[in-house]
Amino acid sequence: MGGRYKIAVLPGDGIGTEIVQVGVAMLEAAARRFDFALHFEEAPIGGAAIDATGEPLPAATLEQCKASDAVFLGAVGGPQWDALPSDKRPEKALLGLRAGLGLFANLRPARILPQLVAASALKPEVVEGVDILVVRELTGGLYFGIPKGIFPEKKGGRRGVNTMSYSTFEIERIGRVAFEAARGRRGKLCSVDKANVLEVSQLWREVIVGLAPEYPDVELTHMYVDNCAMQLVRQPRQFDTIVTENMFGDILSDEAAMLTGSIGMLPSASLGSGGPGLYEPVHGSAPDIAGQDKANPLAQVLSGAMLLRHSLRQSEAAQAVEKAVQTVLEQGYRTGDIAAPGAHIVGCRAMGERLLAAF
Ligand code: NAI
Ligand code: MG
Repeated sequence: MGGRYKIAVLPGDGIGTEIVQVGVAMLEAAARRFDFALHFEEAPIGGAAIDATGEPLPAATLEQCKASDAVFLGAVGGPQWDALPSDKRPEKALLGLRAGLGLFANLRPARILPQLVAASALKPEVVEGVDILVVRELTGGLYFGIPKGIFPEKKGGRRGVNTMSYSTFEIERIGRVAFEAARGRRGKLCSVDKANVLEVSQLWREVIVGLAPEYPDVELTHMYVDNCAMQLVRQPRQFDTIVTENMFGDILSDEAAMLTGSIGMLPSASLGSGGPGLYEPVHGSAPDIAGQDKANPLAQVLSGAMLLRHSLRQSEAAQAVEKAVQTVLEQGYRTGDIAAPGAHIVGCRAMGERLLAAF
């Protein structure tokens, strides 16, 4: 395929440094096999950056990310930084990075691998074959709408206010990401809203419907959010791609994720308009197992597959990485978080070696 890409690598804290090493090794292997060049540049973020520079997101790190084709992030945070004021904590770096890169679309796949069906909280016959992508709007809605705050009431007491607000521009751009994603999958998009009650949802639905003629190959449906929450556990296989606003997406993506078992398996992508995308596992820095070579690197590796697919357009390479993950699971290798009776329990590094051997 050719191509030369610059990847900003931000290991962060805790298990971040361990799993990112495995993730980078897989990306390198993918580049070799599919004949493109990757140039990795590492930068500090989170607690590691605080210790080195006093800032969770040093300006140089953000600049380096902006100058890259994609950002590959591990995780940040840990008890040693918990006492810091909230705007100096490691987690603050994530918000700064999302804002600085203009990332408005959060992609969270929830795919149950056949080898892990037994690890799900739901019955095998319900979760078997589940492969859902939740596209969550990330920079608007209830979390950012104005007015917001806690205000005194004239007659005493106080009132807390948040506003769910979306412009047609914001709905259109997340809608396009979702239609494109659905097009690259099974061609089904379900837009989730609360249009029976909320005006903002009525506008949401109107704008999404307006985009549909541009994507005649995608089958568009609509669902109210409360029904969607129910359908996700009742009959999750009915879904392919789901698009929804920020808070609905926060809740539904966690719900969908839990269909599939361990947090150590869940990747994510956050995309903006044209700039670099951010790829990271859903989980945090897992201080309880950090430095012990126990972390499951598969969420990081699968985030790398998303990076290949969405930012580098190397979808064959992405598939090959995903296939290697399935192969090692088939061979019975498991980290502790996805241990199963009769499995070979391995550490983070050994899992990385198995992946390379299976690739
Ligand atoms: P966590 O996701 O780090 O850990 C929750 C539990 O899952 C722990 O028992 C942990 O050992 C386990 N776990 C997580 N990832 C795993 C993996 N790859 N392999 C095996 N086990 C894994 O969430 P927690 O404990 O709430 O937060 C720890 C720190 O991480 C905090 O400082 C938090 O603020 C931060 N955090 C960072 C995130 C990020 O960087 N995107 C996201 C969530 C939390
Ligand atoms: Mg959440």
